[in-house]
Amino acid sequence: MDARAGETDGRLGQSHVRVEGPDKVTGRARYSSDLTGPESGTAHAALVTSTIARGRITGFDLAAAERVPGVLRIFTHRDFAGAVAPVKHLMAGGYANSSHRPLDSDAVAYAGQIVALVVAETLEAAEAAAGAVTVAYAAEPAAGGFDAPGAETVRLADLKPHHEDIARGDAEAALHTAAARIEARYETPVQHHNPIELFTTRAAWDGDRLTVHEPTRYVGAVQHGLAAQLGLDPAQVRVVAGLIGGHFGSKFALSQHTALVALAAKRLGRPVSLVPSRRQCFTIANYRPESRHTIRLGADRTGRFTALVHEAETVTSRFDPFVMEGAEVTASLYACPNIRTAERAVRVDRNTPGPMRAPPEVPFLFALESAVDEMAVALGMDPIALRRINDTAVDPVSGKPFSTRPLMACFAAGARAFGWSRRVPRPGSMRDGPWRVGLGCAASVRPVKIAAATMRVRLGPDGSAEVACAHHEIGNGITTLLALGAADGLGVPVERVTVRLGDTDLPAAGISGGSSTTTSLMSALALGCGQIRQVLAQAATGQGGRLAGRDPGTLRLVGGRLVAPEGTGIPLAEAVGSEGVETVAAFVPEGSDRETALKGLRGGHIGLSLGGAGKAVSWGFGAQFAEVHVHAETGEIRVARLTGAFAAGRILNPLTAKSQLTGGMIWGLGSALLEETVIDGAAYRNPDLAEYLVPTAADAPEVEALLVPDPDDEVDALGLKGLGELGIIGVNAAIANAVHHATGRRIRSLPIRLEDVA
Ligand code: MOS
Repeated sequence: MDARAGETDGRLGQSHVRVEGPDKVTGRARYSSDLTGPESGTAHAALVTSTIARGRITGFDLAAAERVPGVLRIFTHRDFAGAVAPVKHLMAGGYANSSHRPLDSDAVAYAGQIVALVVAETLEAAEAAAGAVTVAYAAEPAAGGFDAPGAETVRLADLKPHHEDIARGDAEAALHTAAARIEARYETPVQHHNPIELFTTRAAWDGDRLTVHEPTRYVGAVQHGLAAQLGLDPAQVRVVAGLIGGHFGSKFALSQHTALVALAAKRLGRPVSLVPSRRQCFTIANYRPESRHTIRLGADRTGRFTALVHEAETVTSRFDPFVMEGAEVTASLYACPNIRTAERAVRVDRNTPGPMRAPPEVPFLFALESAVDEMAVALGMDPIALRRINDTAVDPVSGKPFSTRPLMACFAAGARAFGWSRRVPRPGSMRDGPWRVGLGCAASVRPVKIAAATMRVRLGPDGSAEVACAHHEIGNGITTLLALGAADGLGVPVERVTVRLGDTDLPAAGISGGSSTTTSLMSALALGCGQIRQVLAQAATGQGGRLAGRDPGTLRLVGGRLVAPEGTGIPLAEAVGSEGVETVAAFVPEGSDRETALKGLRGGHIGLSLGGAGKAVSWGFGAQFAEVHVHAETGEIRVARLTGAFAAGRILNPLTAKSQLTGGMIWGLGSALLEETVIDGAAYRNPDLAEYLVPTAADAPEVEALLVPDPDDEVDALGLKGLGELGIIGVNAAIANAVHHATGRRIRSLPIRLEDVA
């Protein structure tokens, strides 16, 4: 936890089950969608969404819907036009996951846009009435994706002012003279987050004070965004996220429907709860946009890379500047003197995409790590040996050192556990009865992010402690880490620590994103525990104190006592007094301006900075291995085994760390073989879990996540890196590389289906 962790019981670093686990598995845990009992007086909302992708609404026929028993009101743009003030996208200095405002006019900008909000006494009545609403449209042509007439290609730098394409050396000339060259196009599809808990909102007014329950991973952005939309003081708005039933990268900022539910609650004078359908969640929120890449890689005879060109395009909406940037990671992964990147966005008539776990790395490393494997085949080299030759301690783009670079240690540990040595190099040469067997590997890398956070820490005279801040339990285990950390830092049992999260009434903490939760919150907790110890030590060592004359810096909180190094100490009740002691810690990452960071945090803005404090490049690393079986006659593809070895700084709870990594790896299997949102025209055609495929237990093979030691004293003061997103990255490439090894077929477009290899 802090410099003294080794001297305490040291629960951090040891495996511990999730403290909220029993509530979750017994059904006691309450989610935002659960707050709908009749005793609360809650009315229920349902959405009507557009069936055209672009055009105008010319009329509504509401008669049948209004006849449904229990219907209270049907709101359309005729009711809400002008009622919601514009706010910008979170990534553009605002608060929203889309700046588009449904129900603001008769215009339709994408398929599945909200065009009416029905409120009724029951969810069943609301859904029945929503189904009975008839909308008349005047449709206009819509561009649904790459190459559609009307799609507009723009340079990333024109959409995102800070973006710069990379140009180092002369990549074209180096490609020309390279001994070996790979040039290939890679494609990844649209993917949608499908957490179990849907994108729900409950809004209740008490006079002019609004309380919203929504499973968001940034309550602060929802609070400030709603206040701006509805002309309220942020202090009038309380947002509670409670537990979050999964997100995969969704639920990341203010939703488009939140203000509409709040307005409906205001006009009806009672709480309103919206639980949209799974189908609607494909268009009222965000998604991982499709991408395509051209990679050109040149190498000399020994395998040293001499040139890398990565050109990439991803889709975005007409109205938001959200674009995935990823070539800055692929450009910095391997030593190479000549590098050029070019990234473009293609604007189409769809809802705005958003982050989906490891937003750029999942598609961008699919491209690069497939190309590296292709180069290994072209050179007749082992793909791990090729990566070792091109390993680098220095970022080839910025020239800065990596704070640690255990990439090849991950490959070594993973290869050993996976049994890479039994791989027969020639594609198509391994067999198991009717199955062709392939072994493939790929790298996983991700820059470390860290953010400012404030946190209240309280220690009571009875040895109870409370940790509270407006961050969120997204299922990653942060509640458990905070309980363990407070137990270590304050010398009390884990069971005596209460952790409170997910509520804007608590001290501000930022978005649960970018794998920054552990780095940021554990830093704030260490600060808070240190402040408490300091207050107590000062009092005890001061004049008249029981430990007077001792150096306050040497006192520790252990086993419910404040103790000096030789063992003399005083009980907690005496040290903290009858009131207990409380502090609010304000952590700001090294290298960030304190005032700016805290102002942004308290204002609901996003403020992730990079680990390494600007001096070093700090990444988490991993090596992914896949064994794939492809049926020689049917082409059926089964993943038999996945092994991943990961280095992500200091690991605070190996159990939850491995759980996150394992989950990510299984999700990566989905990314390789299953997940794809199909677009026809400009609409999603498989928006449900029957037709949008995600890995189930039957798909999930033997999965092993290994932790590779990665002591890093430059990344941040505690040596933490975070690993929420590391597990999924590179799995798609490892599987595609294994499919090539099994069959000799190089599949460059995901997902890989049996028709690709049959
Ligand atoms: Mo990441 S998509 O911010 O969880």
